[in-house]
Amino acid sequence: MCASISGFSKLSKSKKIDWIVETYFSNAEDAKRILKQYWNTNDKLQQLHDEFIENTITNYYLPLGVAPNFLINGKLYTIPMAIEESSVVAAASKAAKFWMDRGGFKTEVISTTKIGQVHFMFQGDFETLQRFFNDIKSKLIQEASHITKNMQKRGGGILDIELRNKTQDIQGYYQLHASFETLDAMGANFINSCLEQFAKTFKNEALNFEGFSAEEKNIQIVMSILSNYVPDCLVRAEVSCKIEDLYEDDSILPEEFALKFIQAVKIAEVEPYRAVTHNKGIMNGIDAVVLATGNDFRAIEACVHAYASRNGTYSSLSHAKIEDGIFTFWIEIPLALGTVGGLTGLHPLVKLSLELLHHPSAKELMQIVAVAGLAQNFAALKSLTTTGIQQGHMKMHLMNILNQFNATDAEKSTLTNHFKTNTVTHSAVAEAIEKLRM
Ligand code: HMG
Repeated sequence: MCASISGFSKLSKSKKIDWIVETYFSNAEDAKRILKQYWNTNDKLQQLHDEFIENTITNYYLPLGVAPNFLINGKLYTIPMAIEESSVVAAASKAAKFWMDRGGFKTEVISTTKIGQVHFMFQGDFETLQRFFNDIKSKLIQEASHITKNMQKRGGGILDIELRNKTQDIQGYYQLHASFETLDAMGANFINSCLEQFAKTFKNEALNFEGFSAEEKNIQIVMSILSNYVPDCLVRAEVSCKIEDLYEDDSILPEEFALKFIQAVKIAEVEPYRAVTHNKGIMNGIDAVVLATGNDFRAIEACVHAYASRNGTYSSLSHAKIEDGIFTFWIEIPLALGTVGGLTGLHPLVKLSLELLHHPSAKELMQIVAVAGLAQNFAALKSLTTTGIQQGHMKMHLMNILNQFNATDAEKSTLTNHFKTNTVTHSAVAEAIEKLRM
C-alpha cells in the first residue's frame, strides 16, 4: 500500500522508520533489521551522519579503495577512491604503475575562476541600464564587503561583475555575470551570498536612480545563483614517453599499440556515442576521488559534460598524439573543487582521504583528480585496444558473482584459483560453482 503523510520531517528517526517499514514493506521487521544493520555503533558518529542530510533513516555504504604509485610532478601519491564498480581501482592502480616507470604524470592548473549570476528582468532602455550599472558597480562590490572581507584577506574575492544583455534570448532578460576567486573553498556559499547581496543593492539603487522612469525602476530579480559551469577553472594532466617505451610485453608492438590508442581517442573526439562511454570511463576515476574527498560530484559531472559539448558536439575530454616519436596523452578539464568547507572538515573519512593526499590545496586536488581521470581512461583504452575490456573487468568482478551465489570462503578460494587460467563469465562461474557443489 502507498500513502502520503504530513509532518513526516517532524517525526523522530525511529518513528520515520516505523512509518516507512509499515507502509512499504511486506516484512516490516526484516526491513527494519536491514536499515539498523547499517547504523554505526558509535552514536556520535551516527548522529553526525544523520545530520548531513534530512530524513536520514540509515547509512548507504560505498567501498573506499586506494590506488597507490601515482607519480605526479615528481611526488608520489596514493589516491583514495569511493566507488561501487569493480575494476576501477585496479585499473587506476595499473595505469599509475605503468606511468610511474615512464616519468609519471605532469599537471598544470590553467585557471581558477568561478562564476555566479544574478538573473533579472528590466523593461526599458539598455543604454540607460548600462549607465546605471556603471554608476553603481563599485557600490555592488563595496556593499558585499562584509561577505568578502575574509576571502580578500586570503587573496581571493570578487574578480569582476559584468552586465549582460540577454534580450535576444528572452524579452527583458539581463544578467549580472560575476567572476570570483575562492581559493581552497569550492565557494558555493560564498558566491551565493555575494550574489544575493548584489541583487539587494541593485534593486535598491534602481529605486533611487534618476535616469530611470517609474517602470524602469521596478527591476525584477528572478534569481541569484552560482554557475556550476566553470570553463575558466581548468586543469591539464598529461603523460608522455618515447613510443618504444610503451613496450610492456610481446603481445603487441609499441608502435601498433600507440597507433591503435590514438585511433580510439580520435573516434571519441568525433563520435558522440563513443565519446559518452569514453568520458564515462574518465568519470569513473574523477567521481571516485571527488566523492572520497567530500566534493560535489553532481556539480562536477554537470560541468564536465557541458564542457565536453562546448564546440557544439559532445566530444572526448582526453586527447592523444604522436610527434617526433613521442606519444602524448592528455586531458584538459574544468574542476571546481574545495579542500576546506562543506563536508571536508566534517566527514571523518573525507578528512582521512585529504590527509592521505598530504592535505592538498584546492589547486593540488584539481591536479590529482584530473590525473585519476586520465589514468582511468588510459587503463580502459589500453584494455579496449588490446585484450578487450571483459577479460580484466570480469576478473575483478569475480567476487561479486561468487557473492551472488553465496559462495563460502573455501569455494571462493578454489574458484579464484580456477579462474586465474580460465575466462570469467557469469555462466562459467555458475557452471564451476555447480560442479564444485556436486
Ligand atoms: P591485469 O594485468 O590482469 O592485472 O589487469 P595484474 O593482476 O597483472 O596486476 C597488475 C597491476 O594492476 C597490479 O599491480 C595493480 O596495480 C593492478 P600490483 O599491485 O600487483 O603491483 N591490479 C589491482 N589492483 C588492486 N586490486 C586488484 C588488482 N588487480 C590488478 N585486484 C586490470 C587487470 C583490471 C587492472 C586491467 O585489465 C584493466 O586495467 N582493465 C580496465 C578496467 C576498466 O577500465 N574498468 C573500468 C570499468 S569498465 C567501464 O566502465 C569503462 C569503459 O566502458 C570506458 C571506455 O569504454 O572507455 C571501459
